[in-house]
Amino acid sequence: MSTLHIIDHPLIVHKLSIMRNKKTGSKDFRELLNEIAMLMGYEITRDLPLEDIVIDTPLTKMTAKTVSGKKLAIVPILRAGLGMVEGLQRLVPVAKVGHIGLYRDPETHTPVEYYCKLPSDIENRIVILVDPMLATGGSAVDALTMLKARGCEHIRFMCLVAAPEGVKKVPEAHPDIDIYTAALDECLNEHAYIVPGLGDAGDRIFGTL
Ligand code: PRP
Ligand code: URA
Repeated sequence: MSTLHIIDHPLIVHKLSIMRNKKTGSKDFRELLNEIAMLMGYEITRDLPLEDIVIDTPLTKMTAKTVSGKKLAIVPILRAGLGMVEGLQRLVPVAKVGHIGLYRDPETHTPVEYYCKLPSDIENRIVILVDPMLATGGSAVDALTMLKARGCEHIRFMCLVAAPEGVKKVPEAHPDIDIYTAALDECLNEHAYIVPGLGDAGDRIFGTL
């Protein structure tokens, strides 16, 4: 059963408010997005399994805990998901990174696939699928379908701002997937943009406004 996790830690809420402000430029927007991704990453990795290893401290031998065998993969949905990768990599430097390219058709607002390159052992990894915006949910649903078609069984979806439509649609298509978001906004407008939202995340990250 899918669970919606709203990670509304005061530091995340504060940083997100700066990002929402239209006066915030690309440099600050990018830095804040990566900072929030790192902070959210702390929560999204909370249930990673640990295993015992024996080590020597300077004083004695001990049985210590280490993150167990199952490795992580970070998979951004291009373009905007790229803005969250570095923050997560700071937390888990050994994670491999796959890419899924989807853009929304401006007329129909439905996603169009244009790229997919994933680690060869993706089916053995815990996958964090990232995209700052969950609007209609079409892009997330398609990306999750692509990952599952390649054998992924342990996936979680992380975004920054979600709309009610997206948080309804994803669990309908993928009831096994947990969603992590920093905020659940009010609605979508007639162009399927999130309101109040933060505008076009990809354009704000890459300065293509
Ligand atoms: C944005 C965003 C998501 C998608 C969300 O991407 O980054 O991928 O829209 O909308 P949905 O939930 O309605 O599918 P966009 O298509 O603008 O592409 P970009 O990241 O390349 O700018
Ligand atoms: N994509 C964005 O970048 N922003 C939105 O509000 C919706 C989709």
